[in-house]
Amino acid sequence: MSGLTQGERRELRIVGFLCNWCSYGGADTAGVARASQPTDLRIIRVPCSGRVDPLFVVKALLNGADGVLVSGCHPRDCHYGTGNFYARRRLEVLRRFLPVLGIDPKRFSYTWVSASEGQRWQTVVTRFTEEIHELGPAPRFMDAGPLEREIEQPASSPLHSLDSASLESLAALKQAIASRLPELDLVLGWQEGRDKAHLVPLFIRTPEDLDRLAIGPLAVHNLAVYLPELKGRKVGIVVKGCDGRSVVELLQEKLISREDVEIFAVACHGTFDTGRIDQALGRYQHLESVRMDGKELRITCDGRERHFSLENDSSTKCLHCKTPLSPLSDHSFGSAPSVGEGDSTPPDLARLDAMTLDERRAFWRSQMERCIRCYACRNACPLCVCRDHCISDTREPHFTTQESTAKEKFFFQIIHSLHLAGRCTGCGECQRSCPVGIPILALREHLIRVTDELFPEYRAGMTVDAAAPLLTYSVEEPHIQEREW
Ligand code: FES
Repeated sequence: MSGLTQGERRELRIVGFLCNWCSYGGADTAGVARASQPTDLRIIRVPCSGRVDPLFVVKALLNGADGVLVSGCHPRDCHYGTGNFYARRRLEVLRRFLPVLGIDPKRFSYTWVSASEGQRWQTVVTRFTEEIHELGPAPRFMDAGPLEREIEQPASSPLHSLDSASLESLAALKQAIASRLPELDLVLGWQEGRDKAHLVPLFIRTPEDLDRLAIGPLAVHNLAVYLPELKGRKVGIVVKGCDGRSVVELLQEKLISREDVEIFAVACHGTFDTGRIDQALGRYQHLESVRMDGKELRITCDGRERHFSLENDSSTKCLHCKTPLSPLSDHSFGSAPSVGEGDSTPPDLARLDAMTLDERRAFWRSQMERCIRCYACRNACPLCVCRDHCISDTREPHFTTQESTAKEKFFFQIIHSLHLAGRCTGCGECQRSCPVGIPILALREHLIRVTDELFPEYRAGMTVDAAAPLLTYSVEEPHIQEREW
């Protein structure tokens, strides 16, 4: 091992999660046979590899482990039948997620060792330990310095034209809601907030409320976030394309019932990044006018007119949107723009792609220093549905502390991202609601990219009858290349 004897080399911290029925037995068999093994591994016995939450692995790596190994029964041999099939999907997603966090994916591995394979266990543990020694001690997240070079945000062109066409549908939308209102308890839409430049959610209960309904590129909130709380009531909802995908995902997960929801879909031609607009407007006393002029938004406040264009000032999620109209609707309004071929990498993610692992750690460290842990990102997320029992602020299990350190805040973001793996529709509400403007959507976008690679037949929020990839399994996984030992 690196030319050093066991006694000369410094031991590293490697955590092993071993299933009780096979791999733990395999390690035992190796021990009984007196097969020599490195001593760096600290074993945690788990009932099944399916019990290994990917967060166990990330927590170990963030808290100082130099490597983590998960080992279970061979596929088809799981004591519980299918635990390792689920584990394989989750752990592969995790392996591909680690680099965007700035963690070298070579520090994590998963494999299968049966109780009779003492020799295979010896090979696995020896080889993995050697690899971790070659990498050396893992760099600590809290030791990451500031990002030393300026990394340009690559330009990204939208997949469909961005303009304000949706405004034209308002009259027809109001008419349709008015005709359905007597059958519904309420309809969710948008209205003018503190002024015309800021739309906020509207709860329409009477025809008079309907007069306040507004749509257009400033209607940014994803109203699907309210639906789980309104379960059991007859609710209408006005949705853009990405909001409609959240509704589909909630239906798929049986968090709401189809017969209780009436969907009014508005073709979306892009929304503005309201944070950017607020920053450009700065403080003002009086807002005189807001008007769309073709693709341009003109806002006049305190006698000064400012211009914003959807091409330059849209929400970044709109640049790579492929679903301008909800995939599911009862009524639809406006015509959706045709979406171009191909893929576009979201700008914040493209910027992370251009960084080294050290730079990504430095980037997230500095971003997390700014996080005030207000949980707005979680509360605005339509698919973060267990927020009353969120593991990030419970003591049982005690996944995170309430310490205001960059590491704990980063771990909270990792929890949120991993809980959305295979479910996130990329609506961007997490990032839009962040009061300090942390580009956290990039973590979710990277996971969407990973799940697209591994499960290309699935796209979150498109079909009510589909199963999210991490909630199911396949005996053969054509897109997962397991490691040979
Ligand atoms: Fe070993 Fe499930 S019991 S992987």
